Amino acid sequence: MDVDVFTLFPGWFDWFRGQRHVANALALGHTLECVDPRATTPLSGGAVDDTPFGGGAGMVLRVDVMEEALRARYGQDPVELRGRRRVIALTPGGRLLDDALASELATEDALTLLCGRYEGFDQRIVDHFCTDEISIGRYVLAGGELAAMVVLDTVLRKLPGSLGHADSALEESFSEALEGAPEYPHYTRPASWRGWEVPEVLLSGHHERIRLWRLQESRRKAQT
Ligand code: 6GU
Repeated sequence: MDVDVFTLFPGWFDWFRGQRHVANALALGHTLECVDPRATTPLSGGAVDDTPFGGGAGMVLRVDVMEEALRARYGQDPVELRGRRRVIALTPGGRLLDDALASELATEDALTLLCGRYEGFDQRIVDHFCTDEISIGRYVLAGGELAAMVVLDTVLRKLPGSLGHADSALEESFSEALEGAPEYPHYTRPASWRGWEVPEVLLSGHHERIRLWRLQESRRKAQT
């Protein structure tokens, strides 16, 4: 998968690139590149945003600036780009990210993520250049960068080979294997600590009983 993140703060992603599963994904040939719209802005003084028409607080990312950044990166009109590439605006009011959406995005060959800052995007960026609007929760972040990292964290770990253990992303919280329910609890050594015992079934070596116990615990958690 080739991922481009449009951000005014490309340096933020240096740390993200170093995280184990991200680094693993990159070592496998996937790419994560940042594009700074300030580098191609047609405005003087490196300006990228402006005050909102109609008044109000904050600044809005300009449509001409985003168009120029997308054109410079892809060499075509961004209105046509979105017909062949998933272009995602990160906005607090977008479609809520969940495991199903992450799995859907993990099937794409390429993703473009646009991070807004300040009060966000000129709406024409979303309406004409983007295929999706995604939010990571109903609260407001100062910018889309952390949200982009959350989206990419959950998408990249689904790519084959990016987790240490091949099965670890299969049977986990909210996965189809667990009927969309949260994951069952895990235990490791010591089997007894301060009188807190590990459920006996997990020590039994009885694979079918363990499987059923885990499914039952997962379903129980889903009800609370
Ligand atoms: Cl995607 N962006 C911003 N700025 N705030 C958010 C968000 C995104 N998702 C939740 N809050």
